[in-house]
Amino acid sequence: MIRHIIAAIAIVLAAWAFWFMAQQDQKAERFQRIQEIIQKTRMEKVKVVNTVQPVAQPEQSAQKEEKKEEDEAAKKLKALQDRAGNVMAFKVSPLYKQKCSSCHGVNGEGIIGPKLIGMSQEKIYQALTDFKSGKRKNYVMYGLLSKMDDQQLRDLSKEISTFAEKLKAAGN
Ligand code: HEC
Repeated sequence: MIRHIIAAIAIVLAAWAFWFMAQQDQKAERFQRIQEIIQKTRMEKVKVVNTVQPVAQPEQSAQKEEKKEEDEAAKKLKALQDRAGNVMAFKVSPLYKQKCSSCHGVNGEGIIGPKLIGMSQEKIYQALTDFKSGKRKNYVMYGLLSKMDDQQLRDLSKEISTFAEKLKAAGN
């Protein structure tokens, strides 16, 4: 009898552990994807440096294939960034540029993170405080905002809410 109870408890624990790990995996996956994209852009930079040396190394076809895929992904991201990220229509604050533009674009047009142009000050501030408090779950945004104070969040909300106007004024 006792053995049966112990076995039952063990099964329940194992099931719970399995479920818990699955949840963690799901959360980690989203972050992982962002990490991968960022990693690929770094790799591309390294490769550009490498092409300066004309020493051709014999490569295995599997490695080549992998590299090709990386190049493709990096190219796509580069194209996206060129289209959305690198052409600055108007100036932004150093804080926005440093902390936000890599994912949301230099003018808030969105790259990895969603487009911010056209969001109201209240909506942006709400989103930022929700990310920071963990009410809205996103590890990237949470990690970033946990190191910022309320005044910075207010300043950013105010600034980003003016992007739509500024874009219009810049003739876009
Ligand atoms: C590493 C990438 C990354 C950086 C850097 C980043 N964000 Fe985000 N941001 C995201 C992603 C991904 C989402 C979508 C999250 C979601 O909806 O769960 C998001 C969502 C948002 C939203 C909500 C948008 C909506 O439509 O509700 C706002 C507002 C925002 N970010 C502002 C900022 C600000 C301000 C900064 C700079 C302090 C910043 N983000 C930096 C990736 C990033």
